[in-house]
Amino acid sequence: MPKRTARYRPRARSSHREGALVELTIEALGARGDGLASHDGTRVFVPLTLPAERVRARLGEWRADGIAAQLIDILTPSEARRQPPCPHFGSCGGCQLQHMATEAEASWKSDEIARALARRGIVDFVMRPIVTVRPATRRRTRLVARSVGDGTQLGYHARASHSIVDVESCAVLEPRLDRLLPALRDLAAALLPAGAECALVLTAADSGIDLTVEATAPADMQRREALARFVADHDLARAGWCVRGRIDPIAERRPAYVVFDGLRVPLPPLAFLQASREGEAAIAAAVVEAVGDAASVVDLFAGLGTLTFPLARHMRVHAVDGDADAIAALAAAARQSAHAGRITWSERDLAAEPLSADELARFDAAVFDPPRAGAKAQSEAVGESVIKNAVSVSCNPSTFARDARILVDRGFALDWVQPIDQFVWSSRIELVARFVRTTS
Ligand SMILES: C[S@@+](CC[C@H](N)C(=O)[O-])C[C@H]1O[C@@H](n2cnc3c(N)ncnc32)[C@H](O)[C@@H]1O
Repeated sequence: MPKRTARYRPRARSSHREGALVELTIEALGARGDGLASHDGTRVFVPLTLPAERVRARLGEWRADGIAAQLIDILTPSEARRQPPCPHFGSCGGCQLQHMATEAEASWKSDEIARALARRGIVDFVMRPIVTVRPATRRRTRLVARSVGDGTQLGYHARASHSIVDVESCAVLEPRLDRLLPALRDLAAALLPAGAECALVLTAADSGIDLTVEATAPADMQRREALARFVADHDLARAGWCVRGRIDPIAERRPAYVVFDGLRVPLPPLAFLQASREGEAAIAAAVVEAVGDAASVVDLFAGLGTLTFPLARHMRVHAVDGDADAIAALAAAARQSAHAGRITWSERDLAAEPLSADELARFDAAVFDPPRAGAKAQSEAVGESVIKNAVSVSCNPSTFARDARILVDRGFALDWVQPIDQFVWSSRIELVARFVRTTS
């Protein structure tokens, strides 16, 4: 793991000359994948660079924690630098690390988790070798589209910008989503009034592609027909139109569903799903191993049951989530399961009303897989309970480490961390961690 740098304190803003060309040595990568350097004692963020590189950069505006700079030249490249595979890399804001060799990206991601834990004083645990998911496996994406004077843009936002980078192809997407991009651009052209914008949210479900158009105004008859025709022409499973969170179902050729542990689970529009099948399999395998021979487990932040159903092969599972549609889908599938008698569920807001230590007492183990904000209140309750084994799934090392500290302070030890790189080429990281109670 690289040496930790001392905590940085920005100098007075007046010392920085915007537009100045400077030579810098990149010291590390920040959490968002930008190179970090210092200039006159001020932290500078230089995207598209790598540790140990000597670069020329133009100083730009202040951001919250330093100066944003633009890379002009690489004077001394890192040995970890490689040719980015995608022609859109650099302008498109979707990927941050395509210029980094796979092994270097993997070790940076494991180190990011270790650094987040070390900042919370947790250093004694096993860091398992990272599992890397291939590109071309991403099954969910949100594209943005805009009607401009001479045509329609479709792609992703540029880095830190509202402008859209038109993409012909996206190398992280599952091929069936990638192949649809040209037709989606034509669809957006048919849907968008001049100067307007929308988002196209796509999920490659196990019964076909599910498309939701996020727009600012309801669909008129012409747009409904265009979308229904698109579903038929491209054999999508379903399409809907969403304005301010309200979904208007437009066309369905077949029910949209995903398969967890051999069981069909109905897919509500815009429901959470792990980013790839391979990532989901790696997470589920690590969670089942981490829970071990427990007889009963509570699956907190269970979503559609990604982890509930694999766990139910081995033990009793109580699934809890705050999303009513997700819990209804999980319940419908659970009733069909060969292990139906082992699965129970409830809908509950776990931030406002975490399961209490008393409620947790009937389980041997707790799994929690919260959103990026983490599970502070729920971790406190798990810590106060008699539960012997806690398993955390997280896509945010910083909130994971905060919650890990809560558990450690209440008698748990961190046994191992399994990093899973299901967001290859981006600065995001997924992990599963096993905690065991050492004192009560
Ligand atoms: C990262 S997803 C994990 C879902 C599932 N474990 C999976 O692997 O697919 C986080 C889940 O937390 C749920 N969630 C978010 N905030 C919540 C809250 N305050 N209370 C309960 N559930 C919440 C979401 O509905 C979502 O299903």
